[in-house]
Amino acid sequence: APLTLGACLNLDDIERAAEKLLKPKAWAYYRSAADDEKTHDWNRASFYSVRLRPRVMRDVTHVDLTTTLLGCKSSLPIFVSPAAMGRLAHPDGEKCLARVAATQEIPYMVSANASVGFEELAALAQPGQTLFYQLYVNRDRQKSEDILKRVAKAGYKAICVTVDAPVAGKRERDERAKLDEDAATDPNMQKAVKSAGPDAPDAPQDEPSQGIAQALGSYVDATLSWTDLAWVRRASGGLPLIVKGIQTAEDAALAAHHGANAIILSNHGGRQCEGAPSSLETLLEIRKFEPRVLDKVEVWCDGGFRRGTDVLKALALGARAIGIGRPFMYSLAFGDAGVSKVATILRDELAQNTRLLGATKLSEVVPAMVNARELEDN
Ligand code: FNR
Repeated sequence: APLTLGACLNLDDIERAAEKLLKPKAWAYYRSAADDEKTHDWNRASFYSVRLRPRVMRDVTHVDLTTTLLGCKSSLPIFVSPAAMGRLAHPDGEKCLARVAATQEIPYMVSANASVGFEELAALAQPGQTLFYQLYVNRDRQKSEDILKRVAKAGYKAICVTVDAPVAGKRERDERAKLDEDAATDPNMQKAVKSAGPDAPDAPQDEPSQGIAQALGSYVDATLSWTDLAWVRRASGGLPLIVKGIQTAEDAALAAHHGANAIILSNHGGRQCEGAPSSLETLLEIRKFEPRVLDKVEVWCDGGFRRGTDVLKALALGARAIGIGRPFMYSLAFGDAGVSKVATILRDELAQNTRLLGATKLSEVVPAMVNARELEDN
């Protein structure tokens, strides 16, 4: 495995380096996925059954990868997906993500269970930087209302409600890595768990034996339903609303109907419902059964995107932006330099392959540039 950043040529190299460099419990929490991890693996594998249809003899000297997410400018069709507990990997944790998202000019979606406070992260933001806030609705709704007010005041540009985690999935790597000894003996670990999320005090930190995910997820309100979206928007003072964790065409249509401005097709990186489809499959399902959703809301995707070509396949099928989860978390093993490297690798791969596909800007990456028949037939 490459152990220096310079030796990492792609996102898989960074994952392999992280496996070696991170503390075992951090690695287990980041890498873990539900049950037998088949959905985790399928997220990645589903790209292999989609073919690109490159067009040639077009002038591809220059390529423009810029776009907007809910009106916010981005230098790439990429954002940092929300992920908890950055300080397990690096003392600065989420601050590294915030700093690099600024220099790379891509949106950063801060997790409800970030181990650096969302106000502290907002205070670090550069002028014009886009931060989104990901909310897990608390059983104590008043707590969520208070957070949403503070989030709006701190300058976050949109609220993302994650809806695929009414309960945490069964993450056996995480369970096995049992938090307990470390929580008892390692002050950094203890600090990271304690500072995860403004409402984390609800989490049963004295019961860590089922792993970090279970401890973090315990305050989440499983009664959440579609009509609550209006309450979230109101409580945020009317910020744009993103719904993350859509896994079917039916729910995509419902989210649009209930006022979402964007939806994220996501199975939480395979960490929740084992057997769920990849976001690419859900995108194809929407194209087939609820195509109007693509005109009504911005459709974003995440889960298993590791190559520029993965991103291009989803963009061609109508996604507007792609979230990257684990690679950014793994890259925290190298601090800011690692996070920059992930963004730069993706930027270079995207630029190169957009040109190889015969496009010079993202609007030229069209459905005719992919053959997804194998996945459509599933
Ligand atoms: C996550 N994810 C996540 N999602 C969310 O809405 N709130 C959260 O707090 C977290 N926390 C979290 C922690 C870690 C360590 C991981 C790996 C993931 C899910 C995340 O936003 C995203 O959907 C997936 O990570 C995307 O898949 P990849 O890119 O990791 O394959």
